[in-house]
Amino acid sequence: MKEDNTRLYAALEEYSRTGAYPFHMPGHKRTSWWTDARLPYGIDITEITGFDDLHHPCGIIRGCMERAAALYGSESSYILVNGSTCGILAAVSSVVHRGDSVIAARNCHKAVYNACALSELNVRYIYPDADPVGVCKSITPESVCAALSECPSAKAVIVTSPTYEGVISDIKGIAAVCRSCGAALIVDAAHGAHLPFCTFGEIGDPVRGGADIVIESLHKTLPALTQTAVAHINGGLVSRERFEKYLGVFETSSPSYVLLASVGECLAFLENRGSAFEEYEKRLGEFSERIGGLRSLRVLCHGGDGGHGFFSFDKGKLVISTARAGITGVELARRLRGEYSLELEMSYPTYALAMTSVCDGEDAFVRLADALLEIDKTLAPSEPIPFPPQLPRPKCVRMTNAELDALPDTELTRSIAAKGRYISRRCIYAYPPGIPVVLPGEIIGAEEFDYIEALRRSGVRVEGV
Ligand SMILES: Cc1ncc(COP(=O)(O)O)c(C=O)c1O
Repeated sequence: MKEDNTRLYAALEEYSRTGAYPFHMPGHKRTSWWTDARLPYGIDITEITGFDDLHHPCGIIRGCMERAAALYGSESSYILVNGSTCGILAAVSSVVHRGDSVIAARNCHKAVYNACALSELNVRYIYPDADPVGVCKSITPESVCAALSECPSAKAVIVTSPTYEGVISDIKGIAAVCRSCGAALIVDAAHGAHLPFCTFGEIGDPVRGGADIVIESLHKTLPALTQTAVAHINGGLVSRERFEKYLGVFETSSPSYVLLASVGECLAFLENRGSAFEEYEKRLGEFSERIGGLRSLRVLCHGGDGGHGFFSFDKGKLVISTARAGITGVELARRLRGEYSLELEMSYPTYALAMTSVCDGEDAFVRLADALLEIDKTLAPSEPIPFPPQLPRPKCVRMTNAELDALPDTELTRSIAAKGRYISRRCIYAYPPGIPVVLPGEIIGAEEFDYIEALRRSGVRVEGV
């Protein structure tokens, strides 16, 4: 296998025709005689000669990583096959030691909290304000500055930008604050891998904005198979060696070459993207115009909507507010599924989220816009849906992992919660998006109880209860 061969998929196809017999993993031996399923067994190999090693890349996989670095403007890029999750776990672990302090935006994904729990970190949270729809706004450099002056020993600041809903923060400003305090800035950009290729993503670009580590899921917003992601490291604050060590801890030792090949194809698509993203933005613009007539539903930052106070916004996220439409986001998603065969990404009491990508054709946007316009005609503008927009701020009891595990199982009722002494052993979160309402060691008081109940009543899937 030639080391300069950059198309892993092509190399796998070529290899599958060589007649080489696999006396190695995986156990299907590249055959499918035992099933009718049309899965890519023929190219599903392991780290055999010529196919490099994800954990010590020096050939075709290193080539992929260098191509990712060139595309994103990063000094070092790592291809990941256990999602952004393993990148986040490795990122946090690589910049802290047990018991250190860090600052985290409270709307981070559960992977961030798991990373903090594993190293028993002392976490000071930044609670972003929510807009009236309940969408968390941007994290500001000022709020990071305030958190760092309260917690000057913080080793890292961890923020999510863009968020699940598409809200972008001023990463350049935040990076400058972090740099002045010597704290590493980790940006969970799991939903932002497409943004450097879109005009609305230039502002807030975390790699070019100076973040030390940026983690992006390729599978969420680009054409790549589920679980694929990339992590970028810039500057001298983060030790590549420690990051690689922790990737070795959190990422599988048997990476799927099917997933890796899909990363290679995705990178090739980006390299030869032509006008694909301009056309995508044009379709988004046409969608915006088409939904201009909505009366009760709103689509955030589309169709004349604005004034949310976000630093910037990913227009590819269609956040459909039902806050003043007399139905919940969950009901809207149910109607779109049942009456129009449109399946959304997530729904919440006050909004529903349709994710788009460069792979959505014009028809998809027209279908969604027309469905929204039709549903909107059946609704009437209403008073705001009674759902607290702000995340609760539970009190925390500092406990070790062992103490948390030893907490007894007790049934929780509102009257027990109201006493303010019920410590949660688990992480409780709506899924999606996986942002914790209550973390292990936090007290579920009346406010937290009511918030969780309101989520459940509206049909949102709540995990951990
Ligand atoms: C903001 C955010 N970060 C991280 C993750 C984890 O990403 P992955 O599914 O690629 O592991 C998610 C998943 O939904 C997410 O929404």
